[in-house]
Amino acid sequence: MSSTKIWTHKGTFLLAAVGSAVGLGNLWRFPYLTGENGGGAFILVYALTIAVVGIPILIAETLLGRASRKSPIMGMKYLTESHGTSRHWQVIGWMGASAAFIILSFYSVIAGWAIHYTWLMFSGQLSGASADVISASFGELLASPNQLLLYHTLFMLASALIVGMGIHKGIENGLRFMMPALFIILMIVLAYGVMTGDAVAAIKFLFTFNLNDLSLEGWLQAMGQSFFTLSLGMGAIMAYGAYMSKEASLTRTAISIALVDTAIALIAGIAIFSLVFGAGMDAGQGPGLMFVTLPIAFADLPGGALLGGVFFILVIGAALTSAISLVEPVAAFLVERFGFSRPLATSIMAGLCWLLGLLTVFSFNLWSEGTWTHQLFGRSPFEILEFLTNIMMPLGGLLIALFAGWALSREEVLNEMDTNDRWFHTWQFLVRFIAPTAVAFVFLRTLPQVEGYLIPALGAALITAAFTAGRTFATRQNKV
Ligand code: PFF
Repeated sequence: MSSTKIWTHKGTFLLAAVGSAVGLGNLWRFPYLTGENGGGAFILVYALTIAVVGIPILIAETLLGRASRKSPIMGMKYLTESHGTSRHWQVIGWMGASAAFIILSFYSVIAGWAIHYTWLMFSGQLSGASADVISASFGELLASPNQLLLYHTLFMLASALIVGMGIHKGIENGLRFMMPALFIILMIVLAYGVMTGDAVAAIKFLFTFNLNDLSLEGWLQAMGQSFFTLSLGMGAIMAYGAYMSKEASLTRTAISIALVDTAIALIAGIAIFSLVFGAGMDAGQGPGLMFVTLPIAFADLPGGALLGGVFFILVIGAALTSAISLVEPVAAFLVERFGFSRPLATSIMAGLCWLLGLLTVFSFNLWSEGTWTHQLFGRSPFEILEFLTNIMMPLGGLLIALFAGWALSREEVLNEMDTNDRWFHTWQFLVRFIAPTAVAFVFLRTLPQVEGYLIPALGAALITAAFTAGRTFATRQNKV
C-alpha cells in the first residue's frame, strides 16, 4: 500500500530530511557540547566527520529506502531477499526501528521542557529574575513528575497527530508550514543575539581552531554528534527515502542536508553564545546551557522575555519536525505488516513510546539517585536508554555502510546513485573503509571498559567487520 507512495515534489525529501536533521541536536546538544569541548576544534572534527562519514552514510541510507520503497524493517527484508544477500542484514531495519522508538521516548520528554520554558518566558515569570532563581526553576521542573508528564504527553500527541494524518496531509503540509517559520524565527533570534550580545566573542569561540584544546573524549563526542544531528542509523532517513522521487539526486540531496544542518547548528551557536558571552557567562555549562544559562541571559535583556519565548517556540518546532521522522519508520511498518490504518498504527507507536517515556520522566524525580536502577546498574533509566541508543546509533550506521558498500553490487548502487565512476569509487571507498573505521571508533567509546584498549579493540572490530563483509562479497560473487 504505502510502497507506492511518493512525496508530492522532487524536493520534498530534502525538506523532510532537513526537518528530521534539524532538532534538539542543533539547538541544544551542539551548542552545549561545543561549549564543553573548547569551541572551534570540536567544530572542526564535527564538520570533518560530517563530510567524510556522515554524507556517504546519508547517501547509503537514502539509497536503501528508495531502492526498497518500504519502511526500514520491511525494506531490509525485501532488499536481502531480492538481492540474494544474507538474511542477517535485516537486523539493520529492526535495530533502526527499535532505536527510533527508544530515542523518541526521551526526545519527547526533553522537548517538553521547551514547552515549559515557552510559557515561563511569555508569562514574564523570569524577567529580571536572578541567576539563582532561574537555576532553581529548572530544578523544580525536573522534580515535578506531573509537569514533565503533561509536557511529554502534549508533545507526543502533536507528533502522533501529524504522522497519523498521512505523509501528504500530515507530514508534508506540516513541514511546508513549519520549516520556513522556523528559519524566520532563527534569523530573528540571531539578529537579536548579535545586536544585544557579544557576537565577536561568540565567533572567536566558534571559529578559533586549536586541536590541542580537544581531548580524545571530545573527538569522539564530535563524531557521535555528527551522527545524531544527521539522524543517521535509525531508520528515519530510510523511511523518508522510501517516498523519494526517482529523479532527485542522492548525492546532491545528501550534501544539501548536511550543509543546511551544519549551517543551522552554527547559526544557533552564534546566537546562543553571543547572548551567553554578552551576559558575562561561561560556555561550558553542559546540558543546562539552554535551560538555565540562556534564560539567565534573556532575563536581563530588553525584550528578553518575548524573544526568549520565541526562541523556545523554535526549539519545540524543530524538535517536532524531528520527532515525526522517528514515528514514521515504526508507524509505516505497522501499516505494511499488519494492514493497520495509519491513525491506528501511529496511535500504537506513539502510545507505547509515551509509556516508555515514563521511565525518563521518573528518572529526574521519583527514580533519581539512590533508587532501584542506580543500585542495579549505576544509572537512571533515562541514562540506560540513552546509553543503549548511543550504541545502536553508530552500530546502525556501521551496518548500513557495510551493507551498501559490500553487499550491494555496483549495478544495484548505480541504478539509484546515477553518477560518474570517479564519485562512485570515492563513495564506495568511504563507505567500505573510512566510515566503518570512524563508526567503530565512536562505538567503542561507549564501552568504558575498553578505554585503555581502544586502539587494539578498534583493530579487532575492523578485522571482524572486513572479514564478514569480505565473506558476503565472496558469496555474492559465487552466486553471479
Ligand atoms: N537529528 C535530530 C536532532 O538533531 O535533534 C535527532 C534525531 C531525529 C535523531 C531523528 C535520529 C532520528 F532518527
